[in-house]
Amino acid sequence: ISKLAVLTSGGDAPGMNPCIRSIVRTAIYNGLEVVGIRRGYQGLIEDDMFPMGTRSVSNILNLGGTILKTARCLPFRTDEGQEIAYQNLKKRGIDALVVIGGDGTFTGALRFSKSYPDVAVMGVPGTIDNDLYGSTYTLGFDTATNTVIEAIDKIRDTADAHDRLFFIEVMGRDSGAIALRAGISCGAEAILLPEKETAIDDLIENLKSGQSKKKSSSIVIVAEGDKHGGAYDIAKLVEKQVKNYDIKVTILGHLQRGGSPSAFDRVLGSRLGFAAVNALIAGKTQMMVGLEANYIKITSLEEALTQHEFKLEEDLMKMAEILSI
Ligand code: F6P
Repeated sequence: ISKLAVLTSGGDAPGMNPCIRSIVRTAIYNGLEVVGIRRGYQGLIEDDMFPMGTRSVSNILNLGGTILKTARCLPFRTDEGQEIAYQNLKKRGIDALVVIGGDGTFTGALRFSKSYPDVAVMGVPGTIDNDLYGSTYTLGFDTATNTVIEAIDKIRDTADAHDRLFFIEVMGRDSGAIALRAGISCGAEAILLPEKETAIDDLIENLKSGQSKKKSSSIVIVAEGDKHGGAYDIAKLVEKQVKNYDIKVTILGHLQRGGSPSAFDRVLGSRLGFAAVNALIAGKTQMMVGLEANYIKITSLEEALTQHEFKLEEDLMKMAEILSI
């Protein structure tokens, strides 16, 4: 390969900037030209690209978001969109593409790579949801979880002062990864996840038992993808059946996606970016770089997408329940 392009796509995640920096500098170190693509696949289709040098990624390690910007791009799901994207890469002589994003990003990349195999493609898992097969951690998950626990600790202060019950909604349409880690970290009384249906009656029993044990406050973390609906819906269901609670709801929302990346995400972004470029130089394509047991692991995009399923971490759920008695 001689000329590499990089883009970020889907929901942004803290750690994307350290990863971009690593990709650009590793590529330049190895004698490659580098092009940045703005707004993910949207910029690829609109030919919104610019040359990147070592200084174009100076002082971005500490920045949240992505300097390349991102988008969720529908036209890239069509044959026409993919063809335009290919022509734009070809006319610039780009023969390798690194995509940083989640499963939607990888689905687009795999389809593109199958149609146009002369452009080598490498994926880097970047999503706060931590829901990709082939990497124990995805970029942004650690920072987002730390942001969430900082917020919940503050809510615990006021919940405790007023003897209140809080339902706190965290991100994760299909994944309870943030909810579970935050629940363990903040001692939540209950954690509701998309991977496991919790009966409302069991939740109420649990809260009543907390009251009888003189708990001054209760916190229920609800992942946005929970089957009962969002935190407001669940609070209403609980309110109907119990009268003696002072109930409040907080939706943490997009603040979870921002902020300076943690040390973990800076190192992870640097490692995955470095590995992605080296894998491309070694001739690999249609792959994803990940981290398993603290070692770089390379998984085919095909496998990453087909093995992808939401598994409940039963042992952690059980532990969280026991530790909050
Ligand atoms: O995939 C990351 C994520 O933050 C999910 O947790 C959430 O469901 C979704 O993106 C929100 O997407 P958007 O920012 O497009 O509303």
